[in-house]
Amino acid sequence: MNRRQFLVASAATALVPATGRAEAQLRLKAGPVEARILPGSEGTTRMLGFNGSSPGPELRFRQGERAAVSFENGSGQSSAIHWHGIHLDNAMDGVPDLTQPAVRPGGTFRYAFDVPDAGTYWYHAHHRSWEQVSRGLYGPLVVEEPDPPAVDRDITVVLDDWRLDDVGQLHESFGNRHDFSHAGRMGNFARALFSHDTIRHGDRVRLRLINAATARIFSVAVTGGTGRIVAHDGMPLAEPAPLGDLLLAPAQRTDLILDAAGPVSFSLRTRTGSYPLGTLLASGSNSAPVNSPIRPLPPAGAPEPDRNGVAHLTLVMQGGAMGRQHGGSDFWAFNDHSGMPVAPLHRFTRGETALITLRNDTAFAHGIHLHGHHFHEIRRDGVLGHYRDTTLVDRQASRDILCVFDNPGKWLLHCHTLGHQASGMKTWVEVT
Ligand code: C2O
Ligand code: CU
Repeated sequence: MNRRQFLVASAATALVPATGRAEAQLRLKAGPVEARILPGSEGTTRMLGFNGSSPGPELRFRQGERAAVSFENGSGQSSAIHWHGIHLDNAMDGVPDLTQPAVRPGGTFRYAFDVPDAGTYWYHAHHRSWEQVSRGLYGPLVVEEPDPPAVDRDITVVLDDWRLDDVGQLHESFGNRHDFSHAGRMGNFARALFSHDTIRHGDRVRLRLINAATARIFSVAVTGGTGRIVAHDGMPLAEPAPLGDLLLAPAQRTDLILDAAGPVSFSLRTRTGSYPLGTLLASGSNSAPVNSPIRPLPPAGAPEPDRNGVAHLTLVMQGGAMGRQHGGSDFWAFNDHSGMPVAPLHRFTRGETALITLRNDTAFAHGIHLHGHHFHEIRRDGVLGHYRDTTLVDRQASRDILCVFDNPGKWLLHCHTLGHQASGMKTWVEVT
């Protein structure tokens, strides 16, 4: 551990908004950037980013709008962009070798898709993602409700950790086999990056938390106000839930609505203590605070699961350090197979409902992500729980999910600890 271990973060505005949504065609140019992730005067970090920054610009669309983004690949590596959580056309999903060829260095790819559901999403590189996302190739994507809840501020909070050397540069240990077989590339410096870093006393604030880390499961405490959880993975909760500590697996998002009593602070809880991630400073006070109760966001148009005609699948997570032998050829496996199988795990007829038992036979937790859809987590009492696109399954635990496969195409299903994905933990399904 070096001195950089979880330094106190300064409150610098580090997220860049997209340049004018009026532009029908947005442009995302990947390339080297000098990123401002270190506190105040400690200098910059050489990373990859979009349009000159990492995280890349926050893209905002209105629900029902058509997103048109031209990706220009100046990253020096082949790449593609995945629009995590959006129920989009399969051809726009950004998965090399499954939905499109990788975009070569210097190449361009025009993405165009509808954004049917409001919520908090993100975009990230999906080629050698264990390296490219760690190098900074990602950004927030927000789809606004036509009639958003009344708040004074709408702030995106990107959670990430980076593995830095003593001079604040990325440690070049990408693809480290030890990381792959254990918990992934965990950083030694963690921070919350805000799209806006000041509020007023008494403001009602919407906070959109995104875990962009490739490996760290963020356990986060939010202090300085009272509020409610209103959405997970972009999808509104039927009833806003009380705000306790939050747990976000890689790629998961949580939206809060909070009434600020002063500065609002975020801290990371780990087994060894609590580390500051960042603070929204409070200056001035709101003379007309909103005091209506926090109401649910407008419900998403989730398809009704067919609880009778349900196909039942089991997906067993296997391998890793301290794990049992399995039939796969790499560190990790699903059902005794490592990496992309030639045939899909399952072919669904469009609209079919499936119950999938995710069983974790390993010594690590895994956040499992399905592309192109959300699914219901089934609670222990059998009731439909949260509607998510990524679900965290604890080590040696099991979780059932119920999914209506209504989006045609070839969809990846993988662990979002990106080193696990790279060393075996992925498969795909097909909807026809
Ligand atoms: Cu967020 Cu397949 O990824
Ligand atoms: Cu995993």
